[in-house]
Amino acid sequence: MVAQIELDNISLTFPGNVQPVTVLEDISLTLEKGEFVVLLGPSGCGKSTILNLIAGFTKPDSGRVLAAGKQVQKPGPERGMIFQQANLFPWLSVLNNVTFGPRLGRHNKEVVNARALDWIHRVGLKGFEHHAPWQLSGGMKQRVAMARAWLPEPEVLLLDEPFGALDAQTRLMMQELLREAWLATHTTMLFVTHDVEEALFLADRVLIMSARPGKIVEEVVLPFGRKRDIETLSEYPGYGEIKQHVLHRVRQEAKRHLG
Ligand SMILES: Nc1ncnc2c1ncn2[C@@H]1O[C@H](COP(=O)(O)OP(=O)(O)O)[C@@H](O)[C@H]1O
Ligand SMILES: [Mg+2]
Repeated sequence: MVAQIELDNISLTFPGNVQPVTVLEDISLTLEKGEFVVLLGPSGCGKSTILNLIAGFTKPDSGRVLAAGKQVQKPGPERGMIFQQANLFPWLSVLNNVTFGPRLGRHNKEVVNARALDWIHRVGLKGFEHHAPWQLSGGMKQRVAMARAWLPEPEVLLLDEPFGALDAQTRLMMQELLREAWLATHTTMLFVTHDVEEALFLADRVLIMSARPGKIVEEVVLPFGRKRDIETLSEYPGYGEIKQHVLHRVRQEAKRHLG
């Protein structure tokens, strides 16, 4: 079966002000259909750049980016993205923000609205359909971003530290919500974070990146299964050791970058 996403020996250097900066060096990674993969690495190692390559916003200097076996040339609705900021249109209601998107144009408006309302309810925003973004908390805005990203039924969702700006309590609720939506849709997920606990709760597989130039230095396949409870996950045999190991590895890379 062809992989959902494949990065094949990708390298990328930006011009830079003083001298060229090699951001990615010989990165290869594969996302199988329906997998949840978390990219973990120090700030500036090229995590967002990887998402931008897959999204089709950026092109590599060498190597190939394939989505369902085809070379990525430009952004497309089958590869959705969620950022740290929800980026909602301030003048549109929750419902109109969610239905604002490509892929939807060919569907009848009533059908789209019905599906959007379903997503709005699934992300816990029943009753807020006609609210404006300024009336929502940060977490609620990210719920809208989630509904908007999922409505066009993307094959892949790229998430760039989507909960990084939220308070700890809200972040946990959003992580649970994200997992529920993923388990219900089987969308292929690539999630960027620098939070180790977040990675361990969400991922099937964690990829640890080195400081710049970014390479993938380790893959950790998590043994926790897909049904997870955020309150009891830490009691899972081996959880402590895995967390310790991943923390250590990420800190090592972050220090190498400073040193
Ligand atoms: N368009 C660009 N031009 C020049 N440098 C860039 C550009 N985009 C990113 N960079 C640099 O590439 C490195 C990696 O960036 P990024 O992918 O955003 O890292 P991360 O998401 O892991 O924090 C950083 O040093 C950043 O300054
Ligand atoms: Mg980033």
